[in-house]
Amino acid sequence: MRANRDFMAPWEPTRTPEFFTESGQRAAIDEVLVRHEQGTVLPHVILDAGGSVVGRITLNGIVRGAFQSCSVGYWVSAAANGCGFATAAVREIKSVAFEDLGLHRIQAETLRHNAGSQRVLDHNGFVRIGMAPAYLKIAGRWQDMDLFQVISPNIV
Ligand SMILES: CC(C)(COP(=O)(O)OP(=O)(O)OC[C@H]1O[C@@H](n2cnc3c(N)ncnc32)[C@H](O)[C@@H]1OP(=O)(O)O)[C@@H](O)C(=O)NCCC(=O)NCCS
Repeated sequence: MRANRDFMAPWEPTRTPEFFTESGQRAAIDEVLVRHEQGTVLPHVILDAGGSVVGRITLNGIVRGAFQSCSVGYWVSAAANGCGFATAAVREIKSVAFEDLGLHRIQAETLRHNAGSQRVLDHNGFVRIGMAPAYLKIAGRWQDMDLFQVISPNIV
């Protein structure tokens, strides 16, 4: 996270200085693991061929009942960009969401000018479903986001 601090800043919520410390990362990971135990989050790391962590991909906001939906978020280290890691990770997490978790829908939100992320979604069959004004507080201000979704092929 420290190595990618400047690279990630335009695409993320504003982080506290504590977030970039080892204890800050332990706290963030502990928090996400609690939500994983509650069934609302599925966190994964993205590994390169040698087994080194090059990014993360997470299913957030898993909702059951009539919705059966979640939202996917991901990032890949600046040094590993352009190698297809995000495209492959989204492909694999789709299979986890639809086959293993039995979800019906995955949503993704991107900043309107995040062409790289939109390309990753396009490669994975996501379609744009609209624009949400002032949807997320990214880089310190409430920003409009394009919304995308992919529906499970296992419709019953
Ligand atoms: C977006 C991000 C995840 C892409 O990761 P990646 O591993 O480089 O993605 P991939 O290599 O699988 O694919 C990227 C695609 O976008 C394209 N691309 C990248 N930057 C682009 C740009 N500025 N304009 C147009 N296309 C772009 C690449 O050419 C590639 O397309 P291709 O496969 O057709 O050649 C990465 O840049 C990142 O972590 N960005 C910061 C955080 C972020 O934006 N997360 C997503 C939030 S919605």
